Amino acid sequence: MDVAEAVRGRRSVRHFSPCPVPRETIEELVQAACLAPAPHHSRPWQFVLLSQKVRTALVQAMEEAWQRDLAADGVPPAQAEALLRRSRQRILFSPALILCCLDMAQARPWPDPRRQRAERDMFVQSLGAAIQNLQLLAHAKGLGTCIMAAPAFCQEDVKRALALPQDWEPLFLLQLGYPHPSHRPPPRPPSPLDAIFKEL
Ligand SMILES: Cc1cc2nc3c(=O)[nH]c(=O)nc-3n(C[C@H](O)[C@H](O)[C@H](O)COP(=O)(O)O)c2cc1C
Repeated sequence: MDVAEAVRGRRSVRHFSPCPVPRETIEELVQAACLAPAPHHSRPWQFVLLSQKVRTALVQAMEEAWQRDLAADGVPPAQAEALLRRSRQRILFSPALILCCLDMAQARPWPDPRRQRAERDMFVQSLGAAIQNLQLLAHAKGLGTCIMAAPAFCQEDVKRALALPQDWEPLFLLQLGYPHPSHRPPPRPPSPLDAIFKEL
């Protein structure tokens, strides 16, 4: 598959066949992630492959955090439970699940909040590029992926549940597996060029 074909053909996959993903394939994908551009020659990411055992603790911690937010937002309990159940099933039943973190230990120690924020923005951008590499190569190999952003909303809970180092910022879960035969991606929304591309 050439690059253009991979870019155009990749879609988020949320339903997987139970077939496991070989460990060597996962390692090859993480190595592809690490070829992404990164600021000042850093490698500001950590990828954590989550076993079934730790997923249970993770789900519990994330659910408690999400439940607090849903209750504060006044979401009715039945609706909240449906949201939690869908997320729980995705986390527990993904054939492979990778937690994607920023490694802020590699950040330059700027003295002021403006430059600290710019530094973090650069790291987030770089993590996005790394994940995109992984997603494109996975697609080219017949695998499917989907980002789940839930950890970004409860970083401290995730860190505690998995005993992650203090400098790591968990941002995304990446589901990985062979797409279920029923996978049919919805049509993409149009991106009219004149709405998003200008020349000044
Ligand atoms: C930063 C980021 C966060 C996302 N978070 C979620 C998420 O929490 N749950 C989910 O199902 N998809 C999530 N997605 C996937 C998007 O919904 C998906 O990429 C978008 O709808 C476009 O569809 P496509 O990937 O099939 O082209 C996320 C994507 C990005 C880039």
